[in-house]
Amino acid sequence: MNPRPLAVVTGASTGIGFELAKLCAERGYDLVIAADEPEIEQAANSLRKGETRVVEIEADLATAAGVEALYDCVKRVARPVDILIANAGRGLGGAFLDQEFEGIRRVLDTNVTGTVYLTHLIGRDMRARGTGKILIVGSIAGFISGSFQAVYHGAKAFIYNFSTALADELKGTGVTITCLMPGATETEFFRRANMLDTEAGRSKKADPAEVARDGFDALMEGRQEIVSGWQNKLLALVSHVTPASILAWRNRQFSAPDKRM
Ligand SMILES: NC(=O)c1ccc[n+]([C@@H]2O[C@H](COP(=O)([O-])OP(=O)(O)OC[C@H]3O[C@@H](n4cnc5c(N)ncnc54)[C@H](OP(=O)(O)O)[C@@H]3O)[C@@H](O)[C@H]2O)c1
Repeated sequence: MNPRPLAVVTGASTGIGFELAKLCAERGYDLVIAADEPEIEQAANSLRKGETRVVEIEADLATAAGVEALYDCVKRVARPVDILIANAGRGLGGAFLDQEFEGIRRVLDTNVTGTVYLTHLIGRDMRARGTGKILIVGSIAGFISGSFQAVYHGAKAFIYNFSTALADELKGTGVTITCLMPGATETEFFRRANMLDTEAGRSKKADPAEVARDGFDALMEGRQEIVSGWQNKLLALVSHVTPASILAWRNRQFSAPDKRM
């Protein structure tokens, strides 16, 4: 009997990543899931249903050692990776000069360096096999100069640019790259980014299950990018024809803490 296909999902303990892992399991994939906190074990237990085999690993994907620990874990499973979902990420609200550099660096190391390193390791294996699907979770923030979330928006701009370039480079190799760009979504994100006292933190948000479904469907179709939700699609279109300075000014109203408005 052929073994079930394997999906690797990062940041699968909560939010969009957990919902993406659930969809993989429902479609018959076994899972290797990773996050930085012990909650990943609870996520693994709830994903372990029927025939779905789940291996979880607690690894800090903001570090090279954490990314390598996840890659070693995948190697120990000794099965090729059919799907990689590079979803782990975090935001950081507040004015840039008031943020601690440690937090700033963590945003860059998780969203950018860790994502790029894991994509490099697993992407090479996929290319060697001539097959594989990679979903990288960006954000519509990547289209908007994000006053009061400047580093996060810059990181997601990198992710969009990187994903699109990679999708082109890998044409004809059997490996596809899809970039999922959600807008504000009801997850732990805004609490962790210390943004509950902002318009963004209080705004009505998308259901992470719906966002995950949009991303998963686009991944299966091998699409290069997907903006989740019609309002975000509209916002993405508007952002392409609006001066960056105006986008930054508008984002101030969305992301600045109440006392800075
Ligand atoms: N929510 C939104 O409004 C929104 C909008 C657009 C894009 N996104 C993107 O969607 C992705 C998922 O975020 P979410 O909204 O689902 O937020 P979330 O509920 O906070 O989930 C983030 C996940 O990433 C993991 N993670 C964060 N830093 C990590 C690290 N250094 N090492 C390993 N795992 C780490 C978290 O695990 P631990 O708790 O163990 O650290 C958690 O599993 C992120 O890339 C985010 O930028 C979110």
